[in-house]
Amino acid sequence: MVMVMRAPAGRMVGRDEELGRLLTLLDDAGAGRAVAALVSGDAGVGKSRLVSEVTRLADGRGFTVLSGQCAELGDSVPYLPLADALRGAAQSTGVRDALSSRPALGRLLPEGGEGPTIDSDRSGLARQQMFGGVLGLLAELAAAAPVLLVLEDLHWADGSTRDLVTFLSRMLHRERVALIGTYRTDDLHRRHPLRPVVAELQRLPGVISVDLAPLGPSALAEHLMAVAAPVRIDAAELNDIVTRAEGNAYYAEELLAASLSGDLADHGTLPAGLAALLLSRVEQLSDTTQQVLRAAAVAGSRADDELVRAASGLQAAEYEGAVREAVTHQLLVPYGTEGYVFRHALLREAVYADLLPGERTRLHATMCSLLSDEQRLALPGTAAELAQHCLASHDIPGAFAASVRAGEEAEQLGAPAEAHRHYDQALALWERVAEPEKTAGLARGKLGLLSATNSADSGDIEHAVHLLRRLRHLLTTQAGQAAGGQDANLVSRIGERLAFYLMLMDDNKAIAEAVEVARATVDATPAEPPTWQHARAIATYAYALLAEDSYGAAREWAERGLTVARAAGAPWVQADALVTMGFLRNREGRNDEAIELLTAAHTQAREAKVLGVELRAAYHLARAHLERGDLSIGAAVAHEGTKRANQTGLNLAPYGLDVQHLHFQCHFADGTWDHAQEIADGFPIRVTSAPEAYLSSMALFIDVARGLPAVAERRAWIEPFWSVRGFDAFIARGLLAEDALWRGDTDQALAEAAIAIELSHEPPWGYYPSTIRPAAVALSARADRAVQARATGDDDTASAELAAAGELRQIAREGAAYAKRPKFILGPEGHGWLARAEAEYCRASGDNDPQAWQAVLDAFGPAYTYETARTQWRLAEALAQAGRRDEAAEQWRRAAHTADKLGARPLRRALDDLARRARIGAAQEHGDGEVLAALTSREREVLRLIAAGRSNREIASVLFIAPKTASVHVSNILGKLGAASRTEAAAIAYREGLTSQPSAR
Ligand SMILES: Nc1ncnc2c1ncn2[C@@H]1O[C@H](COP(=O)(O)OP(=O)(O)OP(=O)(O)O)[C@@H](O)[C@H]1O
Ligand SMILES: [Mg+2]
Repeated sequence: MVMVMRAPAGRMVGRDEELGRLLTLLDDAGAGRAVAALVSGDAGVGKSRLVSEVTRLADGRGFTVLSGQCAELGDSVPYLPLADALRGAAQSTGVRDALSSRPALGRLLPEGGEGPTIDSDRSGLARQQMFGGVLGLLAELAAAAPVLLVLEDLHWADGSTRDLVTFLSRMLHRERVALIGTYRTDDLHRRHPLRPVVAELQRLPGVISVDLAPLGPSALAEHLMAVAAPVRIDAAELNDIVTRAEGNAYYAEELLAASLSGDLADHGTLPAGLAALLLSRVEQLSDTTQQVLRAAAVAGSRADDELVRAASGLQAAEYEGAVREAVTHQLLVPYGTEGYVFRHALLREAVYADLLPGERTRLHATMCSLLSDEQRLALPGTAAELAQHCLASHDIPGAFAASVRAGEEAEQLGAPAEAHRHYDQALALWERVAEPEKTAGLARGKLGLLSATNSADSGDIEHAVHLLRRLRHLLTTQAGQAAGGQDANLVSRIGERLAFYLMLMDDNKAIAEAVEVARATVDATPAEPPTWQHARAIATYAYALLAEDSYGAAREWAERGLTVARAAGAPWVQADALVTMGFLRNREGRNDEAIELLTAAHTQAREAKVLGVELRAAYHLARAHLERGDLSIGAAVAHEGTKRANQTGLNLAPYGLDVQHLHFQCHFADGTWDHAQEIADGFPIRVTSAPEAYLSSMALFIDVARGLPAVAERRAWIEPFWSVRGFDAFIARGLLAEDALWRGDTDQALAEAAIAIELSHEPPWGYYPSTIRPAAVALSARADRAVQARATGDDDTASAELAAAGELRQIAREGAAYAKRPKFILGPEGHGWLARAEAEYCRASGDNDPQAWQAVLDAFGPAYTYETARTQWRLAEALAQAGRRDEAAEQWRRAAHTADKLGARPLRRALDDLARRARIGAAQEHGDGEVLAALTSREREVLRLIAAGRSNREIASVLFIAPKTASVHVSNILGKLGAASRTEAAAIAYREGLTSQPSAR
């Protein structure tokens, strides 16, 4: 097998610091904090050498080591380095077992395996399942022993591998897994696709960068002397080499070899530059050996020995002699029992670059004929390689056929980006092939559809829409009739997908186009015999009508879709239509029926194994429960949905994302805040994508209510995404308004709330029910100001504030009326906030009526723990003002109890303030065990470490946070505990029994 070799294990010099950092990484991974490192540096500087040292040490520490390499020209083969890593480790029983229970991964191995059986329509999921499979595999292995996954030379990685690396770096948290990736800095030109990936990874908290600088002169000299031993190099020569090599270990070695070989005894003739030097070494060899090296260079880094022999055109004996010579000269080295690999990737690159154009074409052509063999083609990745060789040798029909095959293979592996690329390549060649349809076994329209759906699945919806629009246009023209092969079902699929993706684009113009396309598609699809395509076209049309708010029509079509799906025997379309119907019932205010339908849809989707629909059903079902105030059932459904999304790697996919935040919402609402906090802590703070920004915004609910320092950090990271998605900005700004209000900053509260209110206004309809909340928050700010003004006798200001409050109250009422959807039924939460808006208005008017606050309590109902406590605080105040002191004290006591239980510090502070002002209740006293109640779970962790005598820096490294963040935690803790020093805090921790507990995580 000819591959680029791994670095030999001589003594490693001059990399103590870098090695130290990577070993810390192993420590962290061993302790259950998943981490990743990116090792970068110029070609030949010593990345592989360093990593092989780490690998060796990890092995010694009992790590399961998986190590895979990318290959130059390998960027069209999906998951090549992963396949390499799995293949390398497949002898281990643990790895084999973990693989056997994950057939999607088995497909990467030469023996193959069952691919995921995913219909292209239910798609978007194959890749995510692949990712989920890898994640699951690593977690399973890590349960037995810590795991080190090395992916070398990522600058050559395929797009799917790049995505996988990002995915793993985000998703691995508490597993005992370390991930090390290497890449060449000098290869990373400005538009290199790895660049944005590296930038993104570097922003993640668990990722460190190890950039290898050139080796220092003394380290290099030491290395050269060791390599030359027992021969002694004279000092002048050594100096000369060290100077020329400029800290590049590989270059130095080659200079040394050239100089020692004596062929280039005269220093003056040593060629300048590494490539020239390497070639001068090759030129010393016999013709046959050079021939072998050239064939090997073209075969790429993954062709086997037999292939190279055949490509070289040499007889067995001659070939072996030539290989022996290459080995003696340290150009090839034996690799396992399978063959030989190039001494270094750079050598292969130099030989390849030196081929004459005709020679290169001929060798590629030879490779084509050798690879076009069914047995070889059955090996994963071969088709993609073949396509490359065909292109390089100008074999258009060959490249065409191989591209189609490579596309199918990539699709089955869950690598839609590569599949799209291959299909697109084939499309580009279509007209240059004699019988394309026969060769491909596909109509042109079908190929175009595949290219587009894979583009969408890889996340590029816009490109998919563009492709499908063109395809649809083409098919309606004369020439297109032939291209579609008169296949009406195919034409239907193209229209249906186009409409579907248009809806995902989430803007009104696209939705209008979606409705139009979907309608035309339904009309153009033959109704008899019933087909799933027809059912699907109808279901999508219904869905589009829904997006456009045409309920009556949507319902009619959803029902029709259901009937056709049943007749066509397509349970997954049935489930999909059921979800739409359930959602409709919900919109029509018939929530009982909605829940019934959605429950049925959920079950059916699960049985039909259509994950996308299952998650959509789970989301709508959980939401329907939540809206009705059935928090515990809602939580259970959302939790189950979250589990499914996690298991299958769909956490950040549409609906996978939404069930997570619903799960959080339910627990936030029902007052199980430690659990809610746990979920919210899993929502990333350093967000780099819109879906993550969405989750992070949701976490603000609890972070604001608990007054956590995370609020500011979250804000800074999500802000850039506010222009992308109005909804995120709406959620975040409404909560930031509450945060400002807790801090007494009414200016900021009003400014943030105004934006949130503006964002939930849609002309010509007016406000949404979601406006009620920010309007009530703004009202509260107005009331505070009016009360203040009145207290100082400033009646003008007071009446101006009251006028502004009146406008806000009007907005809240309009939102509740929801002109756009008159049948909408406001749930308890909406009623609660509406009542709060009314009560705040009373407070602003100077008539702080306890009755109004009692109405708020009644509207929310007792299930909304936090809202209840917040209302009791205001009710206590109103009662106190009315002179009903006993009742006030009672409400105060209840509110304080809940605030303490929840760790709602801002509310507790407000209550303390009220207690002092109104002389009711008692400002906070710390009873047994209650001292720690004010701490968040994170702060408790930090406190444990303080008690263990750790420094801020150590705490930071243990908890994977910045030292600055650690110091913020520490001062917050000292503040909350009223401790003057760390020692005092440690004493409190001990006294409260915290330090005798096992670590929470
Ligand atoms: N610190 C070191 N101590 C001893 N030898 C080293 C050291 N660094 C590199 N080498 C040697 O230099 C040569 C090139 O190093 P290596 O293959 O690790 O480079 P690389 O950065 O991985 O290059 P590429 O980008 O081409 O993969 C190898 O023979 C390696 O053993
Ligand atoms: Mg390397």
